Amino acid sequence: MRDTLRGCTLVGTGSKVPDRVLTNADLEKMVDTSDEWIVSRSGIRERRISGVGEAVTDLALPAAQAALEMAGLSALDLDKIIVATVTPDRMLPSASCTMQERLGATHAAAFDLNAACSGFVYGMGVGASLIASGAADTVLVIGAETLSKIVDYEDRSTCVLFGDGAGAVVLEASDTPGIVASELHADGRHVGILCVPGSVSGGKVLGDPLLKMDGQAVFKLAVGVLENVARSVLAKAGRTDADIDWLIPHQANIRIMQSTAKKLKLPADKLVVTVDEHGNTSAASIPLALDAAVQDGRIRRGDTVLLEGVGGGFTWGAVLLDF
Ligand code: ACO
Repeated sequence: MRDTLRGCTLVGTGSKVPDRVLTNADLEKMVDTSDEWIVSRSGIRERRISGVGEAVTDLALPAAQAALEMAGLSALDLDKIIVATVTPDRMLPSASCTMQERLGATHAAAFDLNAACSGFVYGMGVGASLIASGAADTVLVIGAETLSKIVDYEDRSTCVLFGDGAGAVVLEASDTPGIVASELHADGRHVGILCVPGSVSGGKVLGDPLLKMDGQAVFKLAVGVLENVARSVLAKAGRTDADIDWLIPHQANIRIMQSTAKKLKLPADKLVVTVDEHGNTSAASIPLALDAAVQDGRIRRGDTVLLEGVGGGFTWGAVLLDF
């Protein structure tokens, strides 16, 4: 379905990471790994880690406030809040309801969205559709994670990859469509390759509550779907590779990101990279990178930006944005 019923544009971005830096040198003291292995396999040099009592909404709040400030809007202008996360503050109620209260966004309906590392592009796609249908005029979309709370710091194959952070955008109805097209996909046959197997029942944790990933299986699937979804979202918008000014893929692994840029014939300097300093922050990775490139002036009004997510579920998707 084309998202052209009513246009929406991105009017604000914001982000926040925790203060604590966990470097590759720190990880060398915790597990049998090396800076050389981590950098060559993933491109990651450091990541941010939340404190023990620091919840996902503690990061999401300043990110959302910065996005609202850039948009020149108040929390009272919001009519929907979407928080994409796999690490909400608690199981019930949602992180988005906590955000609604903490922001004072009393007119906004609020819900969480779990699409793992594709959560932010899912949130953008859903937000744009709410605006297109007339169900909303102003939507706050947040991608926020405290993955460190579900990472096994004795498992070297995963603990070197993940980090914490939050990014937010404000979408507003507009005559000129800013979100030109979006595509969202899932394939539940691959549930097992990236998951937290445990659950809570009868007041007890049943099974393993920490993140498990078959990295090679994820890698192979990610490379294929990221190219395909880029091509289909461009085709839907009637655009080509040459129209992309900036590529912001999910920041999981520099090798996957560079391979996607190469397939789209984009020069390396058109790829926005923050994986080196944030690691894989799941739903937060794309809005963190987007905000970095907006704040440092690389992404300017009128630029065309391709956002692409891929992650657990298996989920993937893309949003083509005229900024
Ligand atoms: N340090 C040193 N050695 C390690 C480490 C480590 N941290 N981790 C694994 N190794 C070892 C392995 O044990 C293995 O040793 P062996 O050959 O003796 O058995 C060797 O390194 C190679 O391991 P591989 O898993 O084959 O390494 P690979 O080159 O595939 O890189 C990685 C692993 C980085 C995880 C890669 O597969 C990857 O990036 N996968 C995709 C992850 C991703 O994109 N996730 C996105 C979604 S995330 C989400 O949705 C939350």
